[in-house]
Amino acid sequence: MQAAARLYRPHIEVLSTRYDTALDSTGFDAVLIGAGVPVLVHRDDQDYPYRPEPLFLQWAPLAAHPGSALLYRPGRKPLLLVLEPDDFWHQPAPVPPGPWSKALEVRVIRHRDDIAKHLPAGKTRLAVLGAPLQWRGMALPGRLNPKPLLTHLDYERACKTPWEVACIQVATALGLAGHRAVRQAFAAGCSEYEMGLIFLAACGQTDAELPYPAIVAQNRNAATLHYQHRDRQRLPPRERHSLLLDAGCTHRGYASDITRTHAARPGEFAGMVRDMDRAQQRLCGLVRPGVAFPELQLAAQQEIAGLLARWELVRMTPEDMVARRVTDAFLPHGLGHLLGLQVHDVGGGLASRRGGELARPARFPRLRLTRPLTTGMVVTIEPGLYFIDSLLARLRRSPVARRVNWGRVAALRRYGGIRIEDNVLVTPAGHRNLTRELESAA
Ligand code: GLY
Ligand code: MN
Ligand code: MN
Repeated sequence: MQAAARLYRPHIEVLSTRYDTALDSTGFDAVLIGAGVPVLVHRDDQDYPYRPEPLFLQWAPLAAHPGSALLYRPGRKPLLLVLEPDDFWHQPAPVPPGPWSKALEVRVIRHRDDIAKHLPAGKTRLAVLGAPLQWRGMALPGRLNPKPLLTHLDYERACKTPWEVACIQVATALGLAGHRAVRQAFAAGCSEYEMGLIFLAACGQTDAELPYPAIVAQNRNAATLHYQHRDRQRLPPRERHSLLLDAGCTHRGYASDITRTHAARPGEFAGMVRDMDRAQQRLCGLVRPGVAFPELQLAAQQEIAGLLARWELVRMTPEDMVARRVTDAFLPHGLGHLLGLQVHDVGGGLASRRGGELARPARFPRLRLTRPLTTGMVVTIEPGLYFIDSLLARLRRSPVARRVNWGRVAALRRYGGIRIEDNVLVTPAGHRNLTRELESAA
């Protein structure tokens, strides 16, 4: 599974045009983008897992080449400096074969300081991007991470080129293979720990390659939104109720972000998952250019209210549930976010290329995406409904507590919660659901 190589060169052309404008409007002639370096553990001789710089990956999908860099000068072929140190402790990763070897000028360097030898001479106004640690002690003749340039690039990167969409599709296909394997493992009674390993094996990635740590949550654990543990115990069949798996993969630096919730057996919870799935599909159906994401967030609250009424959890009209914030106790997170080089891609709140943050709606202070949707954006749509003790305790102390069917809440608490998450591309005609397209094709 590979993103089509023919899409890469046009991607570099779009990226070059974007950088030409970004550099010109922020007063630079050239930019050096570092791949980043691993961070050393305090008082140890080991590194934390290396996370490559997204802006570097956007040009050159070399995810295992710390210390490398890319130099872009308008009108010139981008120069990729690949660091292959002479090191008998570690093995440099080979440059993966691909169209970058022709579209970029590739030079191997042996020492981090060699980067300076390749910089333009004279009075070039150079911007240097990336984690400051990579540049420490190098005295490069440039401005480090100038905010106007970063803001311009962050704003632009929300809209994906066809190459980037293809990479997200491959990451999605890999993630779905992992989800299918875990679904079977759940049916077979595996533990969270085993399911985490099965996910990795099925998609062929290491933990460090995933865009975020997979969330493998059985039963009550699904009520913790970013549950991070892996219970080693296999549960007996009658104690297994639900599984929430929120797990994606990367391909050429791009992420997928997929959540599915499964019931252990047919019956009540399986029906609830189906209801949520339909609600999630209706929300995906609202994605189109020009829509303000906070409107979708409100639509999600209305869907959650409908489910609370349908499942006889709250005796109020759905309109009142939203108005009196009952739904906030069950859906405490944003409906979605930009997706791309990072799972929570940056720039979701930018007012323009020149910066300025769009105000987050007072009602939804955690919403990461406040920009109107535009063609080329890839967003997640991930409504959820959870039984979170601390939020329920607050609801119980509120004036609307008597409208809540607490007996039913107590009975459903063991399932933890439901989240369903797809990755959706905004198109001129509306949208394409990249996750469902691949799921139904499998
Ligand atoms: N996996 C984190 C999220 O869905 O945003
Ligand atoms: Mn997400
Ligand atoms: Mn997710």
